[in-house]
Amino acid sequence: MPVSNEEFRRALANFASGVTVVTTVDSSGEKFGLTVSAFCSVSLEPPLVLVCIDRSTRCHHAFGESRRYVVNFLSESQRALSERFATQLTEKFEGVDHHSNPEGLPVLDDAVAVLECRLRNEYDGGDHTIFVAEVERAAVKGGKPLLYFGGEYGRLGD
Ligand SMILES: Cc1cc2nc3c(=O)[nH]c(=O)nc-3n(C[C@H](O)[C@H](O)[C@H](O)COP(=O)(O)O)c2cc1C
Repeated sequence: MPVSNEEFRRALANFASGVTVVTTVDSSGEKFGLTVSAFCSVSLEPPLVLVCIDRSTRCHHAFGESRRYVVNFLSESQRALSERFATQLTEKFEGVDHHSNPEGLPVLDDAVAVLECRLRNEYDGGDHTIFVAEVERAAVKGGKPLLYFGGEYGRLGD
């Protein structure tokens, strides 16, 4: 018998993760971004990562159009940004410190670390799509990461 939705969610809430904002653009250059905890490193050689994106999100189509994305690891002081990018606001980047990378994708200025990625493969992941990408540039600013556990935000040492 398959696990119930409630049991599955309750179990998953016991997995602690970092929090990222994943950004991309569509074919017209419009900027998109969403809060993502389903990030994972995949391979060192070549350098691969994955993110799982809900098919029902506004940004989902943009990943296939630009075939690029940026993973911004949030710092413990960026909880408000996580909340903002988890909404369906149309102007998510307004008032948010960011710049465009050479490919025109938004990069958040105060992230702990940033991975700029080129899409390599996409896989069916049920109601999500698994986007596997090669990391072309990586930058580390430093600082302490924002954590997510039990449906709540936390900090190292809490
Ligand atoms: C802590 C946290 C983690 C999340 N992780 C994911 C995720 O891994 N994948 C995903 O598709 N949505 C995730 N979401 C939900 C999206 O951020 C949310 O659906 C967002 O509004 C989508 O934006 P859009 O529809 O404007 O593209 C997460 C939300 C929160 C608060």
